[in-house]
Amino acid sequence: MATQEPDRSARRRWFRMPASPRPEPAQEESEAPVPLEVPPVDAPPVKLDTIAPAPVDTAVAIPDAEPAPEPPAPETPAFPEPTDEEVAASMTLPRVISIANQKGGVVKTTTAVNLGAALAEIGYRVLVVDLDPQGNATTGLGISHRNVEGSIYDVIMNDTPVDDCVEPTSVKNLFVCPATIDLAGAEIELVPAFSRELKLKRALQGARDDYDFTLIDCPPSLGLLTVNGLAASDDVIVPIQCEYYALEGLGQLLRNVALVKSNLNPELEVRGIVLTMYDARTRLAVQVEAEVREHFGPKVYRTVVPRTVRISEGPSFGEPIIVFDPSSRGAIAYRELAKEVSRGTSRRAG
Ligand SMILES: Nc1ncnc2c1ncn2[C@@H]1O[C@H](COP(=O)(O)OP(=O)(O)OP(=O)(O)O)[C@@H](O)[C@H]1O
Ligand SMILES: [Mg+2]
Repeated sequence: MATQEPDRSARRRWFRMPASPRPEPAQEESEAPVPLEVPPVDAPPVKLDTIAPAPVDTAVAIPDAEPAPEPPAPETPAFPEPTDEEVAASMTLPRVISIANQKGGVVKTTTAVNLGAALAEIGYRVLVVDLDPQGNATTGLGISHRNVEGSIYDVIMNDTPVDDCVEPTSVKNLFVCPATIDLAGAEIELVPAFSRELKLKRALQGARDDYDFTLIDCPPSLGLLTVNGLAASDDVIVPIQCEYYALEGLGQLLRNVALVKSNLNPELEVRGIVLTMYDARTRLAVQVEAEVREHFGPKVYRTVVPRTVRISEGPSFGEPIIVFDPSSRGAIAYRELAKEVSRGTSRRAG
């Protein structure tokens, strides 16, 4: 029996955002796709003031999502292969890594908490910086907002040393710099501040050497808090949910990473993309994985975090999944991810 060749152009259409209302085919063809490639570093500097939350109707189309006949695959992937020097440089510790994606609920916090815990389990000394006024990383690590003496708000706005705010967690080697709701005001209070984009970077400089990995859990926006997180980081890890709107806003995020890189932090790199909430029973998840891997190549971690209710139950007990259910699929996935992220680099702190 002859098997039918899948229609790739049709398969890709679900990546066009927003899907509603679906444009007529004629409009689709005339639409200029928004390139996902980040602009070259030597592009004319763009004022950081131009960094604004992505307009709601920003449509991000995969550049090669052309109508049939399908064009040849682009010769250069969206991210170039790292050079040997870059790979070697990426192995050095300490590293500060932002977990960022302005899309809400894509598993930033869960990744910061559980990747942090899994890195700590390997023996690395890890600090999770909660940069989200929601404070989910703080509570997810078992710290009550009411009991904290100092928070990341004090670090950013009152020059309180990070050390004075760090709290230990139930996991050995894992620490958290908590967030409270005060942080919601910082987004506004930072506006007139001197060097407002570099507040966190300066604050973390004193503590950087005390930890092998500092993971910054960014809020779901591209505002000043996220810019502070990116400016303070060596790398960005972008979680992507294996869902319908997976790539919405990703182009905007990558452009903002490029802006921060060219204006504030030349060291900043997108270190990796992690696919989360993967449900192998759905064709959609399989398609999202295939598309993201095709487009971003080696930047996508091999480890895919499965959708599992056990991962979502951990936070209500204030425990990362490796403590809450050490042998679960989620725990195994985050352990694998920790190995990929650390690449076996020798520990140096602690
Ligand atoms: N692998 C998983 N399987 C099932 N549920 C998950 C998984 N990972 C995270 N969740 C749940 O998904 C929800 C969103 O996760 P999380 O809070 O980490 O996202 P976020 O990107 O930090 O959200 P926000 O943008 O609001 O900060 C949470 O309720 C979390 O418990
Ligand atoms: Mg979060």
